[in-house]
Amino acid sequence: MKNEFTQAQLLDRVNTVRVTEGNPRVREISARIIGDLFRAIDDLDIQPDEFWAGVDWLSRLGAVGQFGLITAGLGFDRLLDIRLDEADRRAGRTGGTQRAIEGPLYIAGAPLGKAETRLDEGNPGEEGEPFVMEGRVLDADGQPVAGAIVDVWHANTLGRYSHFDPDQKAYALRRRIETDADGTYRFRSFLPPGYAIPPSGPVAELFAALGRHGNRPAHVHFLVTAPGLRTLTTQVNIPGDTFIDDDFAFATRDGLVLELDKNVPAAGYASLGIDKPFVRSRFDFVLQKAADDSEASPQARMARAVG
Ligand code: DHB
Ligand code: FE
Repeated sequence: MKNEFTQAQLLDRVNTVRVTEGNPRVREISARIIGDLFRAIDDLDIQPDEFWAGVDWLSRLGAVGQFGLITAGLGFDRLLDIRLDEADRRAGRTGGTQRAIEGPLYIAGAPLGKAETRLDEGNPGEEGEPFVMEGRVLDADGQPVAGAIVDVWHANTLGRYSHFDPDQKAYALRRRIETDADGTYRFRSFLPPGYAIPPSGPVAELFAALGRHGNRPAHVHFLVTAPGLRTLTTQVNIPGDTFIDDDFAFATRDGLVLELDKNVPAAGYASLGIDKPFVRSRFDFVLQKAADDSEASPQARMARAVG
């Protein structure tokens, strides 16, 4: 009876057979997750048809490149941030701008401007409300940080992100701004609308089956980096959005909802092509000191992880 197993014996085999050491951390994580899934199948009496429908769904999710689109909606991205916040609190690392999830739609290498830039340049058809965001990058002592890189990206007026949307030009609504000597940055764009998950495909299917919507409130993403300072991944929300407290990605932070100044006179903003009253928001990014080089890494999440 060497090859006849109970469930428990099978699980033990799956998690212990090996011919080399492998990677102990991968083995540890894999054993835990497989054990949890074996238990779920048994506890919930998951039927073969249900299991294979799940495998089909995962295959289709991967085939359309939407794995990254499901983690935030299931709470994992925010979970990782909550855990980082908790670790910081335990270590007494307080202060600085709150972190918020990166989301799956970042692309490295956006065009770089010095001190100011337009995110909306070269985007005919973009008719959103002109919007300028400006401020400084500061360190934890409130000192301005010259030469910091503010990498910023947001959705177009249809709620879609360039690169992932074949109808937009490369790097549309994506720019990097290098802060000048007094730490300032500013950019012009337009007030973005909210975002919704692609209307069809495996992600939409799951949310329909869960009875959930797939909407995010209007937001703008940032990755702020500077030598010696802790990389800040965050996003800010445009106030007044229906979904601001009902984000399907659970990513709104109460401290990151912008204040908008309306009808700001155009004087001083000609270099951004502003010639009539417009909407402005002032926002400073405050970066903690990095504890080591890895914390100051200029890379976004996936590049760091697989680097
Ligand atoms: C998702 C999309 C976003 O624009 C974002 O900022 C976060 C998550 C998503 O589709 O999962
Ligand atoms: Fe986003």
